[in-house]
Amino acid sequence: MTDQYAVVGNPVEHSLSPEIHAEFARVTGQDMAYDRIVAPLDGFRETVLKFRQAGGKGLNVTLPFKHEAWELAATRSGFAAAAGAVNTLVFRGDAVVGYNTDGIGLVRDLTRNLRLPVRGKRVLLMGAGGASYGVMEPILREQPQLVVVANRTLDKAVALVERFASLRSCAPDGVSARPYEALAGATFDILVNATSAGLTGAMPPVPEGVVAPGALAYDMVYARRTPFLEFALRQGARVSDGLGMLVEQAAESFFIWRGVYPETRSAMALLRRRMIQ
Ligand code: ATR
Repeated sequence: MTDQYAVVGNPVEHSLSPEIHAEFARVTGQDMAYDRIVAPLDGFRETVLKFRQAGGKGLNVTLPFKHEAWELAATRSGFAAAAGAVNTLVFRGDAVVGYNTDGIGLVRDLTRNLRLPVRGKRVLLMGAGGASYGVMEPILREQPQLVVVANRTLDKAVALVERFASLRSCAPDGVSARPYEALAGATFDILVNATSAGLTGAMPPVPEGVVAPGALAYDMVYARRTPFLEFALRQGARVSDGLGMLVEQAAESFFIWRGVYPETRSAMALLRRRMIQ
């Protein structure tokens, strides 16, 4: 019987995961089906358990259920534990195992697709919501020179940095939380916009001059040139949207489920083509 997978969210109709996994299944020759499931806002757990009972093998989890998925998982993989969020569930017998592949997705997009090692780089992470929690540990494990987390609401950035305090020694020049205005005078090699500002046509209030020569500006929002990326281009940065992160996090989920790591270029090209249409 064909193995069943799905992405669960609310809303979920916009999710590109079914297209991505269909392409991975095609290029690796895996026999699997992958659907979208919308869960009621108060019915995530029931939806997951029903899917498992029907023989489902694994799920991707998207907004707003990533924290509930973390709570549901009896076992959490290394990155999921501190992130407080799970985007990949695997059913092993009766056990529900949770992983977070978002941060690995970002790091692979940076290091493999964009050919930019994170090691030794000065990293600015903008935003202190779920998206930032998901990427913090994988970024730190790459041993950047330093990581600064900037957020409008400083308390949230401080709490984020505290959560990962045990990994502080991964970055020789430390990990710190700052308000945007305190960034003036500093420069960064990798600037990651993990805020939701781009979705509303806004940008984080990052001061001019923070872009180091040769820097990369990355926006986790995909398929649009956000105001942040426009700003970064004017400052002379290389820019990237978050499509590669989306595909690479899916590839890691696929590997967890199927034990085969898919080649990601064709899925990336497929999505880019679709978005141009
Ligand atoms: P999630 O957990 O889903 O990522 P969230 O907790 O609402 O969502 O986080 C969204 C992030 O985007 C926050 O860091 C938010 O900043 P505040 O904590 O100060 O609200 C940030 N954000 C959203 N719109 C923004 C904007 N226009 N400028 C700067 N930051 C913005």
